[in-house]
Amino acid sequence: MARFAHITGWGMAVPDKVLNNLDLSQMVETTDEWIISRTGIRERHIAADHETTASLATDAALKALEMASLPPGDLELIIVSTSSPEHIFPATACLVQDRIGAAKAGAFDLSAACTGFIFALNMATQAIRSGSAKNALVIGSETLSRLVNWKDRNTCILFGDGAGAFVLQANPEPGGLLSAVMRSDGSGGDLLALPAGGSRIPTTAATVAEGLHYITMNGREVFRFATRVMAQATQEAVALAKLTIEDINLIIPHQANRRIIEAAARGLEIPIERVVVNVESYGNTSTASIPIATCEAAREGRLKPGDKVVFVGFGAGLTWGAAVAQWSAPFHVPHRRRRPVSYRAWARVRSFIRRLIRQIEGLIWGRDID
Ligand code: ACO
Repeated sequence: MARFAHITGWGMAVPDKVLNNLDLSQMVETTDEWIISRTGIRERHIAADHETTASLATDAALKALEMASLPPGDLELIIVSTSSPEHIFPATACLVQDRIGAAKAGAFDLSAACTGFIFALNMATQAIRSGSAKNALVIGSETLSRLVNWKDRNTCILFGDGAGAFVLQANPEPGGLLSAVMRSDGSGGDLLALPAGGSRIPTTAATVAEGLHYITMNGREVFRFATRVMAQATQEAVALAKLTIEDINLIIPHQANRRIIEAAARGLEIPIERVVVNVESYGNTSTASIPIATCEAAREGRLKPGDKVVFVGFGAGLTWGAAVAQWSAPFHVPHRRRRPVSYRAWARVRSFIRRLIRQIEGLIWGRDID
């Protein structure tokens, strides 16, 4: 029987703290007018000390699971797309897996910068369509504010923190993710990079002194690349789904710059009203921007069951891609009763018990070795 991967739940989380353009103009030589006219950004959310990529991802994930009425224990796959993981390892996805109590899920991180959410959606869909998973969680989460040089006006005005998540579930009803294209061009890797902290340039006092642990970007070249690939990837994904651009109800692009989004809309010859733009309030949240924009579009009633939607993005790598989905959510599994206690409370208890068991096992094994 054919299996389709439906989007049955979605959720987002952004830090409370807001940094507006006026605040930034007191930190670097810039103005509210410059930032708005060049990017469309007015403000962005910035993680507080206690917030991290995993904590935002966990919040977004729990909201998506609640919406899908899916207990975390039923998940078989968790993919966290991020360019600001908590560590090189363990994967941020494993931290989320533990925190939400998804005891049966395999979890891994995916690194494709701002395009990562589209790549992750496609990977989860393929796992569902091939029969290797029934229920998957795809999260895009970033705290790029931790990787930005707050003295570099070329980059620090652009980015914000946040997370968004989708639950994907197998269903024989046609719908869900219909097509996806994934593209990369590593020859442009130097256009947008975080040079140090990996195995090629390990962190040292010298790399920190040189600021190699911060994001570097050739803004003009990235802009040129982005305006070229956004419309192109959309058209490819739409054709792959055997649709035309007229069949598409809504385009949800990566939110990097209003001018890039408007150029893509012009390239596709579609009115901007059919495109979701919320870069004004969040800045560029990288891989989290598409699910965050989706959550807002759904909340505003811009997504109805049966609607055809395009997700399209570009980012470091270079990477770019697009996916077409038929909006089908929410559908609830009728026989499943909601838990009396929240998923978050269950997850905490289960995580505590698992740690306790590991400690007891450690004591027993340790004694045997002695
Ligand atoms: N305030 C005031 N002036 C500034 C600022 C600022 N914040 N930043 C740069 N300038 C100056 C520059 O120094 C330059 O001055 P110069 O001509 O004397 O050198 C001038 O403004 C114009 O700079 P441009 O680079 O031409 O400005 P542009 O119109 O291209 O806008 C921007 C710059 C906003 C960065 C744009 O190029 C852009 O959005 N590029 C795409 C970036 C992007 O999307 N990156 C994220 C990719 S997603 C990912 O993978 C994380």
